[in-house]
Amino acid sequence: MLSPSTTIEEGAEVLFFVDRRRRWIHRVRRGGVFGSDRGSIPYENVIGRVFGEAVRLSLGFKAYLLRPLLIDYIEKGFERRTQVIYPKDLGFMLILSGIGPGSRVLEAGVGSGVLTAVLANAVRPDGVVVGYELRREFAEVAMENLRRVGLDRFVEIRVRDIREASLNEEFDAAFLDLPDPWTALDVVYRALKPSAPLLVFLPTVNQVEKTYASMRRHGGFVDARCFEILLREYQLVEGALRPETRMVGHTGYILFARKVVRDVREQASSSSSGTA
Ligand SMILES: C[S@@+](CC[C@H](N)C(=O)[O-])C[C@H]1O[C@@H](n2cnc3c(N)ncnc32)[C@H](O)[C@@H]1O
Repeated sequence: MLSPSTTIEEGAEVLFFVDRRRRWIHRVRRGGVFGSDRGSIPYENVIGRVFGEAVRLSLGFKAYLLRPLLIDYIEKGFERRTQVIYPKDLGFMLILSGIGPGSRVLEAGVGSGVLTAVLANAVRPDGVVVGYELRREFAEVAMENLRRVGLDRFVEIRVRDIREASLNEEFDAAFLDLPDPWTALDVVYRALKPSAPLLVFLPTVNQVEKTYASMRRHGGFVDARCFEILLREYQLVEGALRPETRMVGHTGYILFARKVVRDVREQASSSSSGTA
């Protein structure tokens, strides 16, 4: 994905694009064949061409040879063993976090590594994502997904419970996608740089309430905001341009807050009102 070459070399990953629904990522190796319900083509006839060119499949249909983008891997290439965060939410979380090249980011749980890949892509070439994941089998799937897109070198996965982490590092932002993020607030608070943002992804309103209530009791977070992103794609048909009939009805909520330095004296007198 990160290779600058415009020529399709042996071993390159290519997005075979036939139409909106027919798109597949394949690694092209001599001796292999691309096959679909629209026809086939030996990889031999693809290697040496330029990304962006079209080839004719055996049944007469055209397939465009495109360089896969990160979103193509997220939608079509990554192995998924857990629920993952959707692009509509990933994009907004990224802009809210303010991270960029060189940032140090804390994440828990890593799951299939979809959010991790987006974060790693944002912090490269000299930043790092430190991701906590309870289950080794998920951590391995995530690492394999990251390797596939050349982003593994910007990620350190720790197979551990985030709540038991003793973090001496300072992070520019933290991301939580856990069933019970309120239990990790103390650890995350200690790991964040003062003023740094925390982004929490939560599938239910009940979890948002519980996390927000814990933030208020904690007293170390301000500027709390909660968002839900609804994305409606349009059917691009000349003379019949309109929204698609189906849309993703629900994914989850994004809870944002920023770390502040806790005033211990004030905290004692206003523990009931909170700061978030
Ligand atoms: C919904 S998945 C995360 C998906 C991920 N954000 C993605 O986009 O691919 C939640 C993950 O959190 C992990 N998890 C749950 N509690 C955890 C904890 N206390 N510390 C670390 N990981 C945890 C689970 O094992 C699971 O893999």
